[in-house]
Amino acid sequence: MSEQHYPITAKMCMTKDVGTHGNLFGGIMMGWLDEAGAIFARTWTGEMHVVTVKFTEIVFKKPVKVGEIVRFEACAPKVGRTSITFDILGLVREELVVRTTCTFVALDDDGHAKMVQAVDPPPPAVSR
Ligand SMILES: CC(C)(COP(=O)(O)OP(=O)(O)OC[C@H]1O[C@@H](n2cnc3c(N)ncnc32)[C@H](O)[C@@H]1OP(=O)(O)O)[C@@H](O)C(=O)NCCC(=O)NCCS
Repeated sequence: MSEQHYPITAKMCMTKDVGTHGNLFGGIMMGWLDEAGAIFARTWTGEMHVVTVKFTEIVFKKPVKVGEIVRFEACAPKVGRTSITFDILGLVREELVVRTTCTFVALDDDGHAKMVQAVDPPPPAVSR
């Protein structure tokens, strides 16, 4: 069964991003996932201020090498009262290199959680 995926952003692995094995540092990837998550949470809810409240396990499936471009896609978004939870996939060409699930919360001007709803119409998706 196909699933709706929402393209978010892309990052290129540079020499400054790799360690002694020539693989992308996990911490750099985690930063990319957090940024991609914030972009998607803002896009999906139309909210200006969102914060990360949770990342579940991050699975690094394949190494990323210098020069490779990681495309980030979201899927399975679930909007709560003040939060949105979704999966993020990182792909190099069509191969899955990383996968996680995260939750972001929208904040009001006082820094308190505020109610959210999904934008209508939703951002464009691709079927996989
Ligand atoms: C996000 C934050 C405002 C939530 O505050 P809070 O007092 O826990 O607010 P609430 O209890 O009303 O929870 C708000 C939402 O977060 C969700 N949430 C809170 N803790 C969670 C957790 N551990 N896992 C998943 N969702 C969680 C709640 O389910 C709720 O979602 P819902 O309204 O859709 O049901 C607060 O925890 C915070 O400021 N955290 C720091 C955020 C931050 O700085 N992130 C960057 C990290 S460097």
